[in-house]
Amino acid sequence: MMIRTATIEDLDAIAAVEAECFPAAEAASKDEFADRLVHYADYFWLMFDEDKLIAFVDGFVTNEPDLTDEMYAKANMHNASGRWQMIFGVNTLPSYRRHGYAGELIQRAIDTAKEQNRAGLVLTCKDELVCYYAKFGFMNEGHSDKSQHGGVAWNQMRLVLR
Ligand SMILES: CC(C)(COP(=O)(O)OP(=O)(O)OC[C@H]1O[C@@H](n2cnc3c(N)ncnc32)[C@H](O)[C@@H]1OP(=O)(O)O)[C@@H](O)C(=O)NCCC(=O)NCCS
Repeated sequence: MMIRTATIEDLDAIAAVEAECFPAAEAASKDEFADRLVHYADYFWLMFDEDKLIAFVDGFVTNEPDLTDEMYAKANMHNASGRWQMIFGVNTLPSYRRHGYAGELIQRAIDTAKEQNRAGLVLTCKDELVCYYAKFGFMNEGHSDKSQHGGVAWNQMRLVLR
């Protein structure tokens, strides 16, 4: 499997993987991804099986410590010198799951955040994935009052690097 960051050429494949991985109410749209790729393509970590995109992780950088729903839609809030690496999406195509692929991409995002001297990483997830992210060192801060998209109770989790 090959891992690299994104370009705008990856837009269709990214939107297709997202649509397979999330219900419509929770999935980011193709237009949202186009905007994200314009502002922070370097903060997408993509995994390919030959030339097929099978998994990705994405999220921008900000000085805001908490992840808000506004961030998903407003890619221009990305601040390359910010303290916190947000993680907005973690996706693996159903037929490729449980091989550690998402884990490799999360680790790549963590390694990049360390290299870039970030304070840490922040993500939100449903209850059933809290234990999964805890394995990487993320601590659960409980249900977020700043992210409720899709009508879901999202846990905010933070990995502090420094
Ligand atoms: C979550 C997801 C990205 C994991 O991708 P993956 O490549 O299979 O991840 P890994 O192989 O690194 O890890 C698999 C682990 O994920 C956890 N996991 C995945 N789905 C789970 C679920 N529904 N309930 C509980 N644990 C789950 C398990 O701990 C599993 O480990 P196990 O195989 O030892 O039980 C993938 O299932 C997915 O795309 N799901 C739909 C989108 C989603 O919910 N993304 C997360 C948003 S926070």
